[in-house]
Amino acid sequence: MMSATVHMNSAFQQCINLDCRATYDVGQVLTSCPGCGSLLDVSYDWNRIAVPSSLGAFRDRWSSRRNPLDFSGVWRFRELLRFARDDQFVTIGEGQTLLQQNDRLATLCRMKPGTLFLQYEGLNPSGSFKDNGMAAASTHARMVGAAITACASTGNTSASLAIYAGVTGYFRCLVFVGSGRIAYGKLSQALDYGARTIQIRGDFDDALARVRQICEKHPIYLCNSVNPFRLEGQKTIMYRVLEALDGDVPDWIIVPGGNLGNCSAFGKAFLELAQLGLVDRIPRLAVINAAGAGTFDQLVNRDSLSWNDGRPQTDIIGDYYAELDRRGARATTLASAIEINQPVNLTKALRALSVCNGVVRAVSDQEILDARALIGANGFGCEPASAASIAGLRLLRNTGVIAETDRVVCILTGHQLKDPDLTVAYHSGDADLHAKKLRPAGVLSTAFANPPVVVDNDESAILEAVDLPAIMR
Ligand code: F0G
Repeated sequence: MMSATVHMNSAFQQCINLDCRATYDVGQVLTSCPGCGSLLDVSYDWNRIAVPSSLGAFRDRWSSRRNPLDFSGVWRFRELLRFARDDQFVTIGEGQTLLQQNDRLATLCRMKPGTLFLQYEGLNPSGSFKDNGMAAASTHARMVGAAITACASTGNTSASLAIYAGVTGYFRCLVFVGSGRIAYGKLSQALDYGARTIQIRGDFDDALARVRQICEKHPIYLCNSVNPFRLEGQKTIMYRVLEALDGDVPDWIIVPGGNLGNCSAFGKAFLELAQLGLVDRIPRLAVINAAGAGTFDQLVNRDSLSWNDGRPQTDIIGDYYAELDRRGARATTLASAIEINQPVNLTKALRALSVCNGVVRAVSDQEILDARALIGANGFGCEPASAASIAGLRLLRNTGVIAETDRVVCILTGHQLKDPDLTVAYHSGDADLHAKKLRPAGVLSTAFANPPVVVDNDESAILEAVDLPAIMR
């Protein structure tokens, strides 16, 4: 039996800068350390929390899944993010996601059968992994009595915050998006769920800087991933992966990198699981940027930026951003979810690389869209940014970093229906659509397209187009 004891003082916020390490109460609303400006973690005094001695104990909660907290794929693991009381946790049924072994895709990635797993986070209520984090951020917002919440978003964070605000009614929400860069599936969600939606003339980096400024000056609760509570919820993606693999830690986790919140949360999850003795080893982490938004890849691989035992070389980051500003450089990729040049969780992501002996790579839009089509043809599909994980796997296989027998989990962060325009543009074979949507981004080939066949409304013409023998081949 697991204890339902409340441990309010067992959690606190803590600065990640090893020269500072200041701590703050969980009741405070902070998105950076007031002392030194670094990012904050939610930390725990594990001695005061009744953490079960094996991960299997969390799985056993399925038998009591009529309790909403046991049904939630986030709060089922509540001892591992015990920053609130049971009666404060917010859930809308997030985290009912699947790990699917996919041998056909494995073969296409030059992996052995039985080695490749896809974690479908698009199966969350708003269709992306963000709901894991938003369950936790909404909980904290409720704890501190926030009446208005806000986020900047490339689309999924806004859809997620909007659904939590709309379904629970605990707070109102404001979402800020850049102009023209948000996929329609996501914009439609924010509008439909009733979020006050502000389209800023600028891109995501502009929108995030602006919303941070506004939240600092007004009583508005910020739900972007600089909010340390959000990342606590995203740790549970890793717990569910381990649960699905029966505790057998994979060799690699591959995840797209945008604002670098997810990979940071994964690193923290494994750091804590190892500290608690709940895993016997830590997987390697591969973070995949889109080449047109490749800040992390450039900083780590070109400029040798590292965690450096908790003292990352901040001058390297400053120089890089100054250079971006000087050139007026903007992130640009068809994987609009990760079209970000100034990732706010950069230093936490460096820590995750250090914890997980990780690597960073960048892939082109061509590679992303081809990978996306392969996932669609062999699995449940995903949105473009999510396919960066499979594109990254193909790259890491081709360069010999990942072996064909390694066990690999690719995180598919968002649902196939999030960005239908781009999917149809890829498959359609319509020259105008290609010229408008794909070619400007350097996507010249649509090798895995499955175009619709246009035909007159006539039986024999239709049968000819159906071409039964061809389908059966
Ligand atoms: N995949 C999808 C589908 C996303 O929506 C995002 C981020 C990422 C990957 C990258 O994750 O930021 O944790 O590195 N989307 C944010 C948004 C930025 O506003 O929805 P990250």
